[in-house]
Amino acid sequence: MTGNLSPTAGPIGIFDSGYGGLTILQGIRHLLPEYDYIYLGDNARAPYGSRSFDVVYQFTREAVLKLFEMGCQLVILGCNTASAKALRTIQQNDLPKWDTRRRVLGVIRPTAEIIGTLTESRHVGLLATEGTVRSESYTLEITKLWPDIQVTGVACPLWVPIIENNEADSPGADYFVEKRIRHILELDPKIDALILGCTHYPILMPKIRKYVPAGVQIIAQGEYVAKSLKDYLQRHTDMDERCTKGGSTRYYTTENSKKFEENARIFLPEVIAVSHLSME
Ligand code: DGL
Repeated sequence: MTGNLSPTAGPIGIFDSGYGGLTILQGIRHLLPEYDYIYLGDNARAPYGSRSFDVVYQFTREAVLKLFEMGCQLVILGCNTASAKALRTIQQNDLPKWDTRRRVLGVIRPTAEIIGTLTESRHVGLLATEGTVRSESYTLEITKLWPDIQVTGVACPLWVPIIENNEADSPGADYFVEKRIRHILELDPKIDALILGCTHYPILMPKIRKYVPAGVQIIAQGEYVAKSLKDYLQRHTDMDERCTKGGSTRYYTTENSKKFEENARIFLPEVIAVSHLSME
């Protein structure tokens, strides 16, 4: 299965269940434009949010292997659900068997690292998929670093389907956004920082801003994941040397490539060309 892995250099891989990781790619490319990137969205099997641990792990593992086979030495899981449910097992069980020099990083740790500097009340809210909230990964990572912070999580199961179906601007979206925000602020009215713990959610930002009171910061992850990656590459020069620098980005989806090209317009400023990739 790992026979095709070549130990040379390659683009940085960014993986998500669908379009959400594009918000992470945007943040990373803004800060690190000189690198080459491959984006892979598993749109055919999205959403991952309410899938079991085993399924999210299997799907993510397959995607990481594909990206490795395409030459990536470093893969970022631009997906909280995959970071919560698959990252640790891939790092501990799979990487040692596949190739000890390759790396897979997630998006939860960089967010946990920064959050302590962004909240004054020490009450933080997490809006995420059911899988991410249930995994308690955020609570664990945050309280490890910032034991005085209290985390309240609320799952927003319909937000990803709304976004994946290009309904983020519709009046229907208002209803579901307002409902979840009201709920989390009722659960803990002291929240002064709200983590968008799903990479899709920044697409709903105009609506989210409408319902979040002034004085509560809304934290989208792209910027922080990018800073953390930059820092990682500065500290790991051996990995940095194995990430090619041509300023290119290639896009792959497991769904219909034309559909991805059209919907990606919501997420990206430029028109992109996308290739289909089968997970078989
Ligand atoms: N964008 C993903 C996340 O950050 C997953 C959304 C989904 O597939 O449910 O959690």
